[in-house]
Amino acid sequence: MIKYILTAVFTVSLAATALADGAATYADKCADCHGDKGQGMGAKKKNPVAGVKAEVNKKSIIEGKGKMKKVAMDPKDVDEVAKFVEGLKP
Ligand code: HEC
Repeated sequence: MIKYILTAVFTVSLAATALADGAATYADKCADCHGDKGQGMGAKKKNPVAGVKAEVNKKSIIEGKGKMKKVAMDPKDVDEVAKFVEGLKP
């Protein structure tokens, strides 16, 4: 029984860590152009990304997208930040 509880606690804390890291990477690498909550920049909210699917985020980061140049970062950070952005509320 205790083993199951420990496993559950461990799994939850791992998930929480991934989200926290995604948030830090976002603030560091994306927020300047997409707003601190993915809402887009400025009064016109240009280029919002909140809620964009993780796969689309990954592709945009790795290959670039239109006027956005690709962003160099660790593949692990790409995964985390891609999930973080998908989880943001548009
Ligand atoms: C230097 C500014 C800049 C940075 C930094 C930047 N972006 Fe972008 N991003 C843009 C611009 C500008 C566009 C719009 C490109 C276009 O349509 O021509 C865009 C488009 C996107 C899109 C496509 C949105 C859609 O609806 O198709 C996604 C997803 C995205 N960015 C995610 C990210 C993520 C995640 C990061 C951080 C790793 C990031 N961007 C960092 C400027 C930036």
